[in-house]
Amino acid sequence: MNVLSVTSEIFPLIKTGGLADVTGALPKVLAARGYRTRSLIPGYTSVLAEVSDARPVHFFPDLFGNPAWLLEAECQGLDLLVLNAPALYDRPGGPYVGEDGVDHPDNWKRFAVLSYVASAVAGGLLPDWTPDLVHTHDWQTALTSVYMRYSTNARAIPSVLTIHNLAFQGQYSAGHLKDIGLPPEALSIDCLEYYGDMSYLKGGIRTASAITTVSPTYAREIVSPELGMGMEGALLSRLDTFTGIVNGIDSEIWDPATDPYLPARYDVRHIRNRSVNRARLLETFRLDATAGPVFAAVTRLTWQKGGDMLAEVAEEIAALGGKLIVLGKGSKDIETQLLLAAGRHPGKIGVRIGYDEETAHLVHGGTDIIIQPSRFEPCGLTQLYALRYGAVPVVSRTGGLSETIIDANDAAMSARVATGFQFHPATSDNLRLAIHRAFHAYRDPKKWARLQNQGMKANFSWERSAEQYAELYGKVIAKAQKATA
Ligand code: ADP
Ligand code: GLC
Repeated sequence: MNVLSVTSEIFPLIKTGGLADVTGALPKVLAARGYRTRSLIPGYTSVLAEVSDARPVHFFPDLFGNPAWLLEAECQGLDLLVLNAPALYDRPGGPYVGEDGVDHPDNWKRFAVLSYVASAVAGGLLPDWTPDLVHTHDWQTALTSVYMRYSTNARAIPSVLTIHNLAFQGQYSAGHLKDIGLPPEALSIDCLEYYGDMSYLKGGIRTASAITTVSPTYAREIVSPELGMGMEGALLSRLDTFTGIVNGIDSEIWDPATDPYLPARYDVRHIRNRSVNRARLLETFRLDATAGPVFAAVTRLTWQKGGDMLAEVAEEIAALGGKLIVLGKGSKDIETQLLLAAGRHPGKIGVRIGYDEETAHLVHGGTDIIIQPSRFEPCGLTQLYALRYGAVPVVSRTGGLSETIIDANDAAMSARVATGFQFHPATSDNLRLAIHRAFHAYRDPKKWARLQNQGMKANFSWERSAEQYAELYGKVIAKAQKATA
């Protein structure tokens, strides 16, 4: 069976967050289950540089006003279709924002065009390859199933939309409807219309054959007004085909026994080797090599991730004799607060503003604790990397964090299943209490070793979740075939 995955990010080519990790890993794990995936991605400047040997498979002389080429390429085990539309994607900055940190002003067009091309591929654009199913991810590619609904050729092909984060919905003026080549019917309340505007995500929710999100807990949370972010109604209308499938981790890329970025490699039986990485980590962030737990966060510095709370508890961690390391970028306010805290506590708080894959691995391989005070978290991957690397997670009890970490309460400790510390709701006072609990546990080396050991043995590889995706794909394809029979 052929699957077309349509995505705005894919690891290792282009990544701003967990979406890339997931879209990069799924094709590999689904291949073993009989699904051959081609991933359609935009030809961003950095992507074009990576696929210099790509071959053109289709030329669009006028794709919504500009010429474009669809290229095919293989890269690190991924079978790619790259949409080379220089006017839309070949420019400085990230996938969504310019160098000034502000959204590209034509994002409404950039991702509509990507979705349109996906629907064209579903409708038979390539003579020798058509998908049996299309898998879209987040608002950036959610319009694909809307285009498919209005294209005679692609209407019978089923689609799955995965919501990685409901906070981003792709909401644009309805005035653009004509510019993106959709008919007036697409603006109905049952499709794109959202409070007078268009919502690309809502369009996807209303038209995809099935919808998933990245953990069962988040699936339950977002059908309520509290975390539904205005989409709860649309989601409730699709409850019969809406499920949560928890993300896995790529256990080859994130393996402390083989990780090329770690000065010392280890597994659960040689956890002592971590001390070499810990020393390197402290050196890298210019922190004192004294006793006391090292807390760390590798994260987008946003309100969702509780970046502000990290700044609020930094002083307390230092005062209690611990250290805090932050690797991240995001809101300028949060970045400034963290840098100021680091300036006040040299040797105790180390902050690096930026995105750096190599340092992210070193942090996981050397820190004692990973903190993740998210206000909401669809799944979260850093806590899963932390478990695998023997760093104990301190997390807020929300979304995927609540179901992947088992709190170290007395019952879970004696049942030998605890893997970290949870707090709820996500406030800096509650985070402080959880930090105190972590300090307390850290002082008891036996207890700490047990927590690390239990975490490292927890299995969050893709196997189980890949099985669930494969099952869903099979069901959706069978249903579509029955409908056309
Ligand atoms: P989200 O996708 O919401 O940002 P996830 O936990 O699912 O959260 O995924 C975040 C991914 O991005 C992880 O792979 C994490 O290691 C990576 N990451 C986040 N910030 C940085 C950073 N500053 N440097 C390197 N990697 C980062
Ligand atoms: C989103 C979510 C994160 C999730 C990731 C991958 O960015 O914020 O929780 O792990 O997507 O699905």
